[in-house]
Amino acid sequence: MSEARQQSSIVGRPVPRKEGRAKVTGAARYVDDLTLPGMIYGATVRSTVARGRIKNITFGEGVPWDELTVVTARDIPGANAVALILLDQPYLASEFVNHPEEPIVLLAHPDKHLVERARRAVLVEIEPLPPVFTIEESAAKKEIVWGEDNTFKSYLVEKGNVDEVWSRDDVLIVEGEYRTGAQEQLYIETNGVVAVANADEGVTVWGSMQCPYYVHKALIKLFDLPEEKIRVIQTETGGGFGGKEEYPSMIAGHAALLAWKSGQPVKIIYDRAEDMAATTKRHPSLTRHRTAVTRDGKLAAQEIEFTVDGGAYATLSAVVLSRGTIHAAGPYYCPNVRINARAVATNAPPHGAFRGFGAPQSIFALERQMDKVARALDLSAEEFRRRNFIREGETTATEQIIREKVDMAGLLARAFELSGYEEKRGRFARENAGRGKVKRGIGFATFMHGAGFTGSGEVFLQSIVGCEASSDGRVHILAASTEIGQGTNTIFAQIAAEALKLDYDMVEVSRPDTASVPNSGPTVASRTCMIVGKLVESAALGLRQTLQGAGLLAEVYTADEWREACRRHTERHGALKSFSQYKAPPDVVWDDGKYRGDAYGAFAWAVYVAEVSVDLVTYDARVEDFVAVQEVGRVIHPVLAAGQIEGGVAQGVGYALYERVAWREGRMANSQMTNYIMPTALDVPPIRVHFEETPYPYGPAGAKGIGELPMDGPAPAILSAVEQATGVAFTHIPLMPEDLMKELGDARD
Ligand code: MOS
Repeated sequence: MSEARQQSSIVGRPVPRKEGRAKVTGAARYVDDLTLPGMIYGATVRSTVARGRIKNITFGEGVPWDELTVVTARDIPGANAVALILLDQPYLASEFVNHPEEPIVLLAHPDKHLVERARRAVLVEIEPLPPVFTIEESAAKKEIVWGEDNTFKSYLVEKGNVDEVWSRDDVLIVEGEYRTGAQEQLYIETNGVVAVANADEGVTVWGSMQCPYYVHKALIKLFDLPEEKIRVIQTETGGGFGGKEEYPSMIAGHAALLAWKSGQPVKIIYDRAEDMAATTKRHPSLTRHRTAVTRDGKLAAQEIEFTVDGGAYATLSAVVLSRGTIHAAGPYYCPNVRINARAVATNAPPHGAFRGFGAPQSIFALERQMDKVARALDLSAEEFRRRNFIREGETTATEQIIREKVDMAGLLARAFELSGYEEKRGRFARENAGRGKVKRGIGFATFMHGAGFTGSGEVFLQSIVGCEASSDGRVHILAASTEIGQGTNTIFAQIAAEALKLDYDMVEVSRPDTASVPNSGPTVASRTCMIVGKLVESAALGLRQTLQGAGLLAEVYTADEWREACRRHTERHGALKSFSQYKAPPDVVWDDGKYRGDAYGAFAWAVYVAEVSVDLVTYDARVEDFVAVQEVGRVIHPVLAAGQIEGGVAQGVGYALYERVAWREGRMANSQMTNYIMPTALDVPPIRVHFEETPYPYGPAGAKGIGELPMDGPAPAILSAVEQATGVAFTHIPLMPEDLMKELGDARD
């Protein structure tokens, strides 16, 4: 990169976030701020049992039913299935229910309070069928609750031959079993939509969502209407974390069905309890590891059985499982790897996308297992890692050759230096031997996270981004990628401004509206910056090429010359637009059948260090300090990037130590923020974020993905630290005070 470019750079500067002012002043309009004339309010009547057959629906007394709009499965104009990967999940159950929050009847009325009273007055009589609630019961086919064998999806990754290794006499074999719990996304703004629907105009929905085109696709099927009759508009969105990836298709369909039948605009906003109980959460998981290592501490074989609980319907389990599978063997080189992965059905509400997409689950298991293997070898956790870190030219579990400059040992050294790891490790060991009731520990995790859709995913998506320049020279980015608090609009504007050498203020990002933006794919999978950002960059450069090709703009230009060129071009030819479509970088090859090859265009690499204290009287485990070191390619916006890491670490702290879903017969029993405990500001440690920047040649301005990465490392690092503090190698999360008490016994004198 030239000196001149670095100086003029907009990329790498903490410019004001595009929608920041509107959010701070309250001008930003979220879906619940929207009111349309004649709008009525919708509510959902749900199943009362986990699994059963619907016998009868009665509408109780004391409700003016003729004033209400009532929708059941019979009112659906098209297909009664939420179109995503499979068509197994109904919008409204008609005969069978498969989880305790399954929607059966929809109601709407102008009076919110009446509609709530009516909801409680609907009596659904269900003949119960035997349910399945655990991974083990489902895998053992205690009951078949989905398909032929309760399996939504399975993958097999085979590298080398693990079977030949087990009988060798020069290896040590270590086995382990690890579990992770469900986790609620806890975006600040709950799910909500407003819908207008009628035969003349078709269906329009406004809502809080990550993926407008997913909703668009689902509504086409639900209403059996041509695509131009369906319009989906994203309203300002208060967080997603994966939780608004698939569920908005459900709630949008519900509001639209009520609008279709009533002829009036319908708003549905979930309250916190309904949102927590009924919408998707992170997949619980069970991972078994069998690892063979040579006496000199080199991985010889890894056999990994990774199973996730998908809940009652397929939703996105296949892709969550896929990412979890590919990350299950981590940033280590091992010549022989077998990963058997499976997503199974239970009678809980479907589990879904949540930041990290299965990788936090499988990485938790792997990192705990790596610590266990190191112990068996009598090596330090760090020395064992150093001997096995993957290096440039080596292959991952899917035999992807790492072509990036990767230096995990360097990141580890940096993280240790910033955290004072070695000094603290020694000091805590000495102090913990004393009589104090507060024990301390420091631990770490080393990991990677792939950016973009897995395998051929991006090729199938064929994402498109547009850029339009108006006659005054302002540049508008047209993409379906949503701003959900993570900074999409800001970084897109930076990338385009940088590419065109214009001021940041000259670039705006249009609101995602399927009537006016092309499909740049879903806002998921750490793809927005690296994949879609690259398309923003090339679409922006397309504008410049058009102007230069027309002889209106010189190679080097000022902002005024740019404006003048845009003015002249639009006068002569009308709208000045440029589109860019995804093309895989060269040499990215993936075999979907064998599950082998280049799983991701690039990985982000990281080492996280956590320091904890464990109080042996209260059994309170606290994270006292946290260092997050990562290599993410070029950092587009240092404040937003650090914010992504800090937020992810906070979510990881909750995942590890606080957030426990209490399941009762497949239902979340603690669906309130008073009893589902998430970390508050007081529970989040100082988080010191450090970026190493190795520009990635195929990313915009050299950037890679960042969004999911910080979710992967905290839990294993924290449990490793708890292990030093307590001497117990815990193997499950969330690790609650009651778990610590049970294991550590009564430490009071
Ligand atoms: Mo998603 S878990 O929003 O990639």
